[in-house]
Amino acid sequence: MFGSSTRDVPEVRNVPRHIAVIMDGNGRWAKKRFLPRVAGHKKGLDAVRETVTACKELGVEYLTLFAFSTENWRRPQDEVSFLMDLFIRALEHEVNKLHSNNIRLKVLGSRERFSAELAERIQAAEDKTAGNDGLVLSIAADYGGRWDVLNAVNELIADGASAITEDMLAQRLSTSWAPEPDLFIRTGGEQRISNFLLWQLAYSELYFTDLLWPDFDRQALEQAIDSYRSRERRFGRTSEQLPEALRRN
Ligand code: FPP
Repeated sequence: MFGSSTRDVPEVRNVPRHIAVIMDGNGRWAKKRFLPRVAGHKKGLDAVRETVTACKELGVEYLTLFAFSTENWRRPQDEVSFLMDLFIRALEHEVNKLHSNNIRLKVLGSRERFSAELAERIQAAEDKTAGNDGLVLSIAADYGGRWDVLNAVNELIADGASAITEDMLAQRLSTSWAPEPDLFIRTGGEQRISNFLLWQLAYSELYFTDLLWPDFDRQALEQAIDSYRSRERRFGRTSEQLPEALRRN
């Protein structure tokens, strides 16, 4: 089990061990080009590929991408259908590549509202890549931070727990097998968390860029990591308490 940022002080590394991303701006990217919104999602998949490759090469261990939130079901039905279809096609075409690159795929969120085909493909992709020990790529789909916490609490209640500790809760979250994100990136210019990993982002460094997701590339990722490196991660301590190598001020 990985330590909690509020109970232990995590190790600070030069390259973030876990990066979590809100991939925003696909619709606006398409609109600027007089294309339908879905063309932006399609192009967004290219940015996903480039980011996964760059993370693997840079030595990032966990990459978690927010692909579809519990609130995204509110979008127009044809856009929702397109996205579901894109997930199916992406699983169909990319899983072998992920597998041959030793990448483990995980999907976070509720699967109850997915079609049987999508749910089956997700399960098959997770099973196929389960033994890989390289980068862990997690796709959050029908995921919400509140859903995650409530789901954990309800599981604990069902198991008869009466008082819940941080560790008990963390062990039931959908990311229980991962360290908390070191770096959170949101593209598209908005500066909010939008019900992503609410519990897990407690001490993550937040990075916002105006770049629209389809324009996000390796250079943009490196810029985000450079910004991360310039941060002083104190986890509640004073600057003076930090080892010299970690002081930034
Ligand atoms: C946000 O942009 C993006 C989404 C809700 C969907 C993300 C999906 C992808 C990047 C495609 C493929 C991913 C996988 C993992 C198969 P937006 O539509 O909110 O853009 P806007 O804010 O400009 O309208």
